[in-house]
Amino acid sequence: MVVCFGQPIQALGVAKVLVSHHPEFVKDDLVVGFIHWGDYSVQKVELLRKLDPTIQFPLSYHLGVLGFNGLTAYVGLFEICKPRKGERVFVSAACGSVGNLVGQYAKTSGCYVVGSAGSNYKVTLLKEKLGFDDAFNYKEETDFKSTLQRYFPDGIDIYLDNVGAEMLEAAVANMNKLGRVAACGVIAEYTDGGKRAAPKDISIGLETIPSAFTGLFHGHNVGKKIVKIADE
Ligand SMILES: NC(=O)c1ccc[n+]([C@@H]2O[C@H](COP(=O)([O-])OP(=O)(O)OC[C@H]3O[C@@H](n4cnc5c(N)ncnc54)[C@H](OP(=O)(O)O)[C@@H]3O)[C@@H](O)[C@H]2O)c1
Repeated sequence: MVVCFGQPIQALGVAKVLVSHHPEFVKDDLVVGFIHWGDYSVQKVELLRKLDPTIQFPLSYHLGVLGFNGLTAYVGLFEICKPRKGERVFVSAACGSVGNLVGQYAKTSGCYVVGSAGSNYKVTLLKEKLGFDDAFNYKEETDFKSTLQRYFPDGIDIYLDNVGAEMLEAAVANMNKLGRVAACGVIAEYTDGGKRAAPKDISIGLETIPSAFTGLFHGHNVGKKIVKIADE
């Protein structure tokens, strides 16, 4: 979703062309791309891709497995992590749009796959419908490092990280030699400012510049040193 103040909200969607002023698009073409929320909208062609009418999948597939998240899962697992038969794969946010595909793709490569998710319903779904070998509810765990030791007594070969934060630290602590981690996203850090890994160290006033500068050589700063000389 793309939100700009004063502009219609855009999100990935499938739409039908009703009127076109561009030679590559004609009435009744189906397109996928960033489309304004609304029954009708005027779109720039740069943000649209024409759908091949011979592909007979449901239109919703173009927003899922055939869309960005399908590509993300494919690249993260196959291009970056390069799974081999028998390797042990951990996927966080495993019931999300990327994670569920990563797990299913990893199973097609003959891997042992464990996913984490935020409810017992999702855990059951992963194990009983999506073919994961095992899964756990991270909200019921208190120490992710020992949780992962329990699920991966022989270590993790591949971690597809969708969440960052403590789960990433725990997974890294359990990785095998020559293991691979694909950093796909850090959803656990998007909304919790307390977990951000970019502290700022601000001193106020022009007169603080010399001490701010020399302080760098004595380790006085925590994170990026900034001197504020005027209000925004
Ligand atoms: N979709 C894409 O094409 C794409 C592309 C590049 C990167 N990414 C990144 O990949 C990650 C997953 O995206 P997605 O599209 O698969 O997600 P999604 O379908 O939007 O689902 C997000 C899931 O993340 C879990 N979650 C939310 N807050 C969490 C927290 N604090 N700790 C742990 N899990 C949390 C929730 O499931 P639970 O019930 O399990 O908590 C939620 O259902 C995100 O970080 C995203 O930024 C996605």
